[in-house]
Amino acid sequence: NWTSESFVESTIRDLKEKLGDDKVVMALSGGVDSTVAASLVHHAIGKNLYCIFVDNGLLRKDEFESVLHSYQDMGLNIKGVNSKDHFYGLLEGLTDPEAKRKAIGKAFIDIFDQEAHLIEDVKWLGQGTIYPDVIESVSVKGPSATIKSHHNVGGLPDFMKLKIVEPLNTLFKDEVRNVGRALGISDNILKRHPFPGPGLAIRILGDITPEKVAILQEVDAIFINGLKTRGLYDQVWQAGAMLLPVQSVGVMGDERTYERVVALRAVTSVDGMTADWAHLPYDFLADISNEIINRVKGVNRVVYDISSKPPATIEWE
Ligand code: XMP
Repeated sequence: NWTSESFVESTIRDLKEKLGDDKVVMALSGGVDSTVAASLVHHAIGKNLYCIFVDNGLLRKDEFESVLHSYQDMGLNIKGVNSKDHFYGLLEGLTDPEAKRKAIGKAFIDIFDQEAHLIEDVKWLGQGTIYPDVIESVSVKGPSATIKSHHNVGGLPDFMKLKIVEPLNTLFKDEVRNVGRALGISDNILKRHPFPGPGLAIRILGDITPEKVAILQEVDAIFINGLKTRGLYDQVWQAGAMLLPVQSVGVMGDERTYERVVALRAVTSVDGMTADWAHLPYDFLADISNEIINRVKGVNRVVYDISSKPPATIEWE
């Protein structure tokens, strides 16, 4: 009979045998899957696991630093790579959602390939692929799919010639969380909402600038902290804010303002394939709206997205 503890034990044993003294390189995202996969490989081979965590400048406020610290606390051999300017440069002027996704996917692959080359004699690529990723073969989303779609683009990056190790590829999401718990990984990581690979770039409608990212990070942080403080975070499947390419008239003191509009989105869901908008308490929404408008310069209007998926999607792009 399957238990998380027995899975952990047998997987670590198998990984030790399979990997021996080989080196493994792995990209971490701060998400549940890659973190749990890395922890298993780390338990098997220690410092021979080389983890790379890229700051694409599109993460939540303070997320890069805080996740990097969590990884260090776990004892992982982790390298944080600050590539913000590289990503901002490639995104400059792009407005089409798929063009933004492609630019981000390509930039990530280039940086990861460059980093993987710095590790001498690395033999394996570790991935946090879980069972639904394996069966969802036509998916166009997720980091593993991003890497696959690169096949069609031209020359294969060298790290793709590595052997693949995917210790979670027989597990479902809830099993991954239980395995993570058995490994002692903190709830701060295990209970984290899903977050898209292209990050805030697909929540800023239109072109990306560092200034827009900074505004959205503030708005998002107020919303997410509010959900946590009010005990609502674990009740929604995913939440975030969208920065709209719209300005609206407002009034502040005796002054007329003409500033940005943000949309808040929170959904309930089991797997992200379908979703309902979360019926958050009105008084909570009122508080969050006030806090955003009072504290975030450049935003004078907050709206709440009451669309279900389908026909809407969770993200706006
Ligand atoms: P949608 O917007 O299609 O999103 O309802 C469903 C889930 O997928 C996430 N998502 C992405 N994840 N790369 C990712 O890694 C992407 O390009 C991407 N687009 C959407 C979204 O956040 C939600 O959890």
